[in-house]
Amino acid sequence: MFSTYIFFIFAVNLPSSTNIILIFKFLKMKKISTYIIVFSGFVFSLFFISCEKDDPDAVFIATQADLDAAVNTFELNVTGKPYGDATISHNGSSLPADSTFRDIYTNLANKADAVEKGTIITKHTFGMDSSGVRTNLNVTFAMIKREAGYFADGGDWEYVMMPFDAGVNYTTFPNGVLPDTSSAMRGKLANCAACHAAAGTDYIFIK
Ligand code: HEC
Repeated sequence: MFSTYIFFIFAVNLPSSTNIILIFKFLKMKKISTYIIVFSGFVFSLFFISCEKDDPDAVFIATQADLDAAVNTFELNVTGKPYGDATISHNGSSLPADSTFRDIYTNLANKADAVEKGTIITKHTFGMDSSGVRTNLNVTFAMIKREAGYFADGGDWEYVMMPFDAGVNYTTFPNGVLPDTSSAMRGKLANCAACHAAAGTDYIFIK
């Protein structure tokens, strides 16, 4: 009986087609106790799955696919300092707010949606020529909302820098290629957090 129970729990968590076949095999069994076990196993699995999804402390590590999905426009062509001074020193050179253009994207469906674990916002920073015309992509920044407690001084955001790379296909990877979690370009970046703390509760300037 115990092995039947374990078998069912396992079956419920398998990909759907395999799952359905296994469940039908069980339903052929006539004993009422089997039905009870099958049902309780089902309820237990639902409970387990829902806990896993809702737990705000569960670690969230963004993948390349998550980054690629942040393509909803938040705001385009931001220049100057409408939200505060966005001047950033990066790769030894300064990117002054007044001589860059920034395009900001997100995976939030609507700008007004609440930020939650898994929210990603990216900012593509472009240069400006002497006549004020937008030039090439210089760097893409990203903020990835992590689990509660990840980085208290940084609003629990993971900060990412992705300098322009001629080797990257920006059609395939619109926000660039996500560095590994061990990279110095990704994580609890104190410089980013120190300035973004001024943005308020969510650490986001444009929201
Ligand atoms: C000196 C202050 C300052 C620093 C340092 C800074 N930012 Fe920002 N950031 C801003 C401002 C201001 C905006 C608002 C949009 C704009 O004007 O470009 C912004 C916008 C953003 C956005 C869009 C979401 C938002 O908050 O509006 C992302 C993503 C972002 N920054 C990432 C980073 C990352 C990653 C770093 C560190 C490498 C960083 N920023 C460092 C000031 C700063």
